[in-house]
Amino acid sequence: ARVLVLHGPNLNLLGVREPGIYGTTTLAEIDRQLAERGRELGLEVVTFQSNHEGALIDRIHAARTEVDAIILNPGALTHYSYALRDALAAVGLPAVEVHLSNIHAREPFRQHSVTAPACRGVIAGFGARSYLLALEAVRAILQEGKD
Ligand code: DQA
Repeated sequence: ARVLVLHGPNLNLLGVREPGIYGTTTLAEIDRQLAERGRELGLEVVTFQSNHEGALIDRIHAARTEVDAIILNPGALTHYSYALRDALAAVGLPAVEVHLSNIHAREPFRQHSVTAPACRGVIAGFGARSYLLALEAVRAILQEGKD
């Protein structure tokens, strides 16, 4: 199976961006870890980062016929992008939302996700490991009903 991992705005700066909150692991390192863990789980991982809402939406649309599940960290778009939420609902693929930080323990504006209702679940607060946990969740979802 194939999994698309989407990283939203400002995540290209991971490693240097507010390391006290987001850690020192770079996005390239996260993508590398995902590819490696994916191989172990029998999942082909395709990753994409954009600072542009429309580019992320285009990628979700293309995913409809190309992948089996989506993992996404929408960055700040989490908190206000109804367009991203609608794109996820439109393609209907199982999706898992990821956050490096525990958004529920932060500023009030970060405590609500408008994209999460279009996802099967959310993993937040485990740093770079959140993405690997999401990959485990995706494998479980894709495995459902197969045994
Ligand atoms: C984030 C949390 C968001 O509030 C923030 O805007 C980000 C990163 C996280 O991974 O913790 O860009 O999605």
